[in-house]
Amino acid sequence: MSDYFPRREFLKTAALAAAPALLKSQSPNDRLRVGWIATGSRGQFVMKQMYRLSKDSVTVTAVCDTYQGNLNAGKDIVQSNEPGHTPKTYVAYRDLLADPNVDVVFISSPEHLHFPMALQAIAANKHIYLEKPIAHTIEEGQQIVEASEKSGRVLQVGTQNRSNKLYIRAREMVQNGDIGEVHYVRAFWYRNFDAQADPTKTTPAAWRYVIPSDTTPENTDWQRFLEGSAHKNISFSPERYFQWRNYWDYSGGISTDLLVHQTDISNFVCNRTVPFSCMASGGVYQWGKEFHDDREVPDTFSAIYEYPDRFHLNYSCYFGNDQYGYGEQFMGHDGTIEVMDRQNLHFYPQPKFIKGHAPFTKQTELHLNYLKDFDQPDATADHVHNFLMAVLGKEKAIAPARAGQIAAIPGHLATLSYKTDHKTFWDPATNKVHYS
Ligand SMILES: NC(=O)c1ccc[n+]([C@@H]2O[C@H](COP(=O)([O-])OP(=O)(O)OC[C@H]3O[C@@H](n4cnc5c(N)ncnc54)[C@H](O)[C@@H]3O)[C@@H](O)[C@H]2O)c1
Repeated sequence: MSDYFPRREFLKTAALAAAPALLKSQSPNDRLRVGWIATGSRGQFVMKQMYRLSKDSVTVTAVCDTYQGNLNAGKDIVQSNEPGHTPKTYVAYRDLLADPNVDVVFISSPEHLHFPMALQAIAANKHIYLEKPIAHTIEEGQQIVEASEKSGRVLQVGTQNRSNKLYIRAREMVQNGDIGEVHYVRAFWYRNFDAQADPTKTTPAAWRYVIPSDTTPENTDWQRFLEGSAHKNISFSPERYFQWRNYWDYSGGISTDLLVHQTDISNFVCNRTVPFSCMASGGVYQWGKEFHDDREVPDTFSAIYEYPDRFHLNYSCYFGNDQYGYGEQFMGHDGTIEVMDRQNLHFYPQPKFIKGHAPFTKQTELHLNYLKDFDQPDATADHVHNFLMAVLGKEKAIAPARAGQIAAIPGHLATLSYKTDHKTFWDPATNKVHYS
């Protein structure tokens, strides 16, 4: 058996030669000056995680959000973590990017706004932590990759599973040959919610988040929300603003909101890149018109991927039953590594097929718990820390723009397959999608 507890520190990479130089305005003892664009649910969570692990490396000099309630919430988190300090507040993200006291920006806006915000942040010479998916379309993601790689600045995509020590261990085990050749991965994400699209319920329908009672077109700045959207003349809709995941103009639904985490981690663990084909299928089964729910994106979804060199990913997602939760099963000829709910890793050998080994027993199974065995309460804090250390030239970013794009392309292929009812094919030579 291999040593499952090696002292390898995956992130303390030797590749520091490639890391960017310290910021010009910065002495090694200075804190990085952070500007935060969009302090909604994820923005607030990531900011707290940043303070949990990286408090000594940062000061948040500016926050920006178009909804006043979330702008205030972002400012409050800064003030409670940096007593006596008040960040500047902005409604227009371009003003934040023009602020000379911002070196590093976090972008946690809805998906359709990633593209304009990231491109402008790159143009403003900022280092960027950009939430997943990298962009709303393949073409936009490609432009971000190109601009980011030219810029010489760090861009980290918010695919934090890469910083989860369970997946780092799974990757080491696969590299070590512990499960033999891996041709097949099963990934799934199951959730359950009330059947009603009623946000006053304690568990409202999926992605029907509570709309604050003070919401108006003015205090949400509807026109700024529409910036990255294909349709600009839609009248004000609090549902679209606060529940944007349900509409194609702002989100790829399950494909780009959830699946990208799992294509990303399958790439990471199994050392794969982009699939050459995808076939997706599903629908709105849980909600819909009879529940007065105008969602456009499916709540029930499956996608089958074929990758070069004999690799297959079988993905399913359903919002009507959470019995099997969240997980990936990396299935090799000699064993299976299963990571469940990003909390537990199970290793099951396939004894009967292993030649030249003593028969495996139950003891050769391995079960690791994220908190107990790794003392890691949430990988987001580590992912942010890795980003900040990369900006300081001390580590290499684990999820650069290209990795984010490689994770997102399969998500987009699935959306396109679902919408067109065709199998989609990815041509890496031309960076184009073809249809069956
Ligand atoms: N990495 C993860 O595990 C993870 C988890 C959840 C969400 N996310 C990602 O985080 C992002 C945000 O998701 P969320 O759940 O926080 O959404 P949210 O709706 O809660 O927050 C979005 C925020 O953006 C603000 N906003 C809208 N338009 C703006 C504009 N033009 N300028 C400035 N602010 C604007 C809104 O007012 C809101 O506060 C998405 O890309 C999502 O995919 C990632």
